[in-house]
Amino acid sequence: MPEKNEAKIINLEQAVEIKSSELDKIKVKGGNPLNGKIKISGAKNSALKLMCASLLTAKPIQIENMPVNLRDIKTLAILLRHLGVTLAMREDGVCILRAGNIKSTCAPYDLVRKMRASVLVLGPLLSRFGYAKVSLPGGCAIGSRPVDAHIKGLEAMGADISIEEGYIIANAPNGLKGCTYKSPVVSVGATENIMMAATLAKGTTILENAAQEPEISDLGNMLIKMGAKIEGLGTNTIKITGVPVLSGATHSVLPDRIEAGTWAIAAIMTDGNVELENIKKDTLGSLEEKLIEAGAEIEKSDNSIKVRRKTKNIKAVDITTMPHPGFPTDLQAQFMSMMTLADGTSTTKETIFENRFMHVPELNRMGANISVSGNTATIQGTKSLKGAEVMATDLRASVALVLAGMMAEGETIINRIYHLERGYEQIVKKLGACGIDIEKVNIANQKEDNNNASKNKDSCINL
Ligand code: EPZ
Repeated sequence: MPEKNEAKIINLEQAVEIKSSELDKIKVKGGNPLNGKIKISGAKNSALKLMCASLLTAKPIQIENMPVNLRDIKTLAILLRHLGVTLAMREDGVCILRAGNIKSTCAPYDLVRKMRASVLVLGPLLSRFGYAKVSLPGGCAIGSRPVDAHIKGLEAMGADISIEEGYIIANAPNGLKGCTYKSPVVSVGATENIMMAATLAKGTTILENAAQEPEISDLGNMLIKMGAKIEGLGTNTIKITGVPVLSGATHSVLPDRIEAGTWAIAAIMTDGNVELENIKKDTLGSLEEKLIEAGAEIEKSDNSIKVRRKTKNIKAVDITTMPHPGFPTDLQAQFMSMMTLADGTSTTKETIFENRFMHVPELNRMGANISVSGNTATIQGTKSLKGAEVMATDLRASVALVLAGMMAEGETIINRIYHLERGYEQIVKKLGACGIDIEKVNIANQKEDNNNASKNKDSCINL
């Protein structure tokens, strides 16, 4: 199938090994509004799980609208290939995967440590093959992020699980059995891992306190196309009735609501006017009302959303992050960046991750006035930000600094941009085409930065 297509196949190993991207910086000169059209990519956080779901069947899975230029997607592709999945990723956004000849059910530390979402191979491997050994992903820049709810759920389905030398070792030689499982936390990953595992279990699984993120429904919808029996997607109770085998399917990744939200915030911040294309009317979710409160005018049509500011100043708006349908933690940093320039004082409460304020000191270095107490940041709006050299710490914190740079007087240099490449496709190209003065600076040959990058190498992993 892939051989016949004209679109170029991406060389994964080469793409992920680009050393320079760990050293590169982004330079933004502030002052230009974001004006124009931006085509929103497929959602990274859905695409990764759809790829893992290919392990549930021996038949081909064709995934379209894939954000193939993202580092995380390439990292997972390499892990799946290691397991024996035949995989072709094309530049036209089509990825064809076939797990017809799995040669290993072990996801090693070296591959899992590069990206936490790799733990999502656990449920599918265990359910289909009765055994899986997956490295524990460990903590990361935004929190400790345990996977206990994933493990407890699979144990409730009859798996025998132990942790040995940093690995989750899971056995279910006679297959998993349906059960009722109430997750101790609302977890996106645990919901997905258990839902995938339950598709091939004997009997019915009822997953209570399930997460309701649109990416979970996207995964569920692809599983249904593969022959799974799933009810209750998008609610906090998901019912899965196991089937003996699943078949192949073709599925298109839903639009990235976090990317769309990021550029919508950018339009309001810069007093621009942007049309977000390739999305649905409800893509912005709960962000929409907060944007309107902040002063946005939003116009929706079937395939696009136009966003611009209608008030002279940005209004101060309080937010509290919550599981879906609440305000997404993945847009918290970007919204805070906008609030640094609001008229008045606002608060941002982060309830999902215990350490997701790493962008605060960097924004303050640019002239923002933010103080943090516990899980709440208080942002006193200021008239202007000043360009500075700043450090990206995780994906969303990084893009929040890009947004601040778009508004700052002078030049902002953002270091460690490999974080951005994990989740924002062609960011320089997309923003540059809409009038933002932005460029990627390759400094791969500078010795000093080389040293810094190797020192900090491990902080780029594991989101
Ligand atoms: C997903 O992470 C996303 N990642 C994250 O996006 C996102 O921030 C997060 O969901 C919340 O929306 C992917 O989809 C690849 P969780 P996930 O399990 O599934 C605790 C981004 O920027 N918890 O819903 O790992 C956990 O520590 C990233 O794109 C347990 O205690 O998140 C956290 O506090 C970052 N035990 C909370 O639940 C568990 O077993 C929610 O985590 C599992 C989670």
